[in-house]
Amino acid sequence: MSKQELRLSRSVSQVNPFRVMTVMDRASELEAAGKKIVHMEVGEPDFTTASPIVNAAKMALDKGKTHYTVAPGIFELREKISYHYSKHHKIEVDPSRILITPGASGGLTLLANMLVSPNDGILTSDPAYPCVRNFIHMFSAEPQLIPVGLEQNFQPNVGQMKRYRKKNTTGIWLASPSNPTGTILEKSHLNEISEWAREERLHLLVDEIYHGLKYVDDLPSVLEVDENAFVVNSFSKYFGMTGWRLGWIIVPENYIEMANILAQNLFISAPTIAQYAALASFSEEAEEIFEQRRLEFDRRKNFLVEELKALGFYTPDNIQGAFYIYADISNFSKNSEIFCRDLLNKYNVAITPGTDFGEYKAEQFVRFAFTTSMEDLELGVERLKTALS
Ligand SMILES: Cc1ncc(COP(=O)(O)O)c(C=O)c1O
Repeated sequence: MSKQELRLSRSVSQVNPFRVMTVMDRASELEAAGKKIVHMEVGEPDFTTASPIVNAAKMALDKGKTHYTVAPGIFELREKISYHYSKHHKIEVDPSRILITPGASGGLTLLANMLVSPNDGILTSDPAYPCVRNFIHMFSAEPQLIPVGLEQNFQPNVGQMKRYRKKNTTGIWLASPSNPTGTILEKSHLNEISEWAREERLHLLVDEIYHGLKYVDDLPSVLEVDENAFVVNSFSKYFGMTGWRLGWIIVPENYIEMANILAQNLFISAPTIAQYAALASFSEEAEEIFEQRRLEFDRRKNFLVEELKALGFYTPDNIQGAFYIYADISNFSKNSEIFCRDLLNKYNVAITPGTDFGEYKAEQFVRFAFTTSMEDLELGVERLKTALS
């Protein structure tokens, strides 16, 4: 059989590639040709994993921790995560409700398997992390995109949910803080959404992967208002462990058994070394390192927001979490893809077009990630000044 005759599954036809990968590929080509690129497209911390975690991994290897673990993950780690919720959110989460997954991506895969059937509709924001829409498509379901703009802090409200829901709607998937916008859902807002979801018997899933990376006093977990919500989280961002592929989900009590069965079937277990390494991320020493890094992200954010505003971009007044600024480029261009391409090719600054994150005003927005040094951010801003003058 020739390659062309092979049939792909019907559901993947709707799954789109990340445009940021094209940006990264082009940036690598330019770097290979000797250009110095300012990387503001990358969605991962520039810091390498904190040393207490690396040392714990070395010790685990020496102790021969190279086998599978139990499907929901080692109990010690789930206990530490449970303690993390009581310390930071003042809520009790029984470790049995926590499952360790291969990244938040693994968590989303598991929850999509558990909660999404063909032809279901899932309400989600536009713009949002692109995989969310793609996961929904993979299950032959319908992403029901709620357009969210700068004027509403890029988070959907219940009024919109009522308008965008259809007969087939079965769930709501949100993120706080959001990628690409860095905005959060306040507690009262979470409460309203949760009440409506309960009335309408819709499941509520909140991706809290950027928790920890906050620039406001209160960044609530949805579990503070709704113990029946599904939570996705990860060691990738705040804990700086992207390459270790480790995350977790929290499910309501009566979904524990099914989540365990799915974990066994989908992954057997999350990476063992990564699980033992992650135990050290709750040590005082690691927490101090994370706090220093958070402060550095805060400093970069303040610098970049001010500079972008002075240049004529429109951005939210208050980036509340994560490490992104979603900026309106109306003053300069009507086409975010061409804007990003020119900026990279002519001025060697890499950013991501809004078209990666949805459809709503996607041509009008770009995402800046402050995941590079202050020195590089300053250089990036100088280049932007030249480009836009
Ligand atoms: C909102 C959001 N969710 C999930 C992920 C997946 O993260 P990981 O699988 O590395 O934990 C990302 C990655 O950028 C993200 O931005």
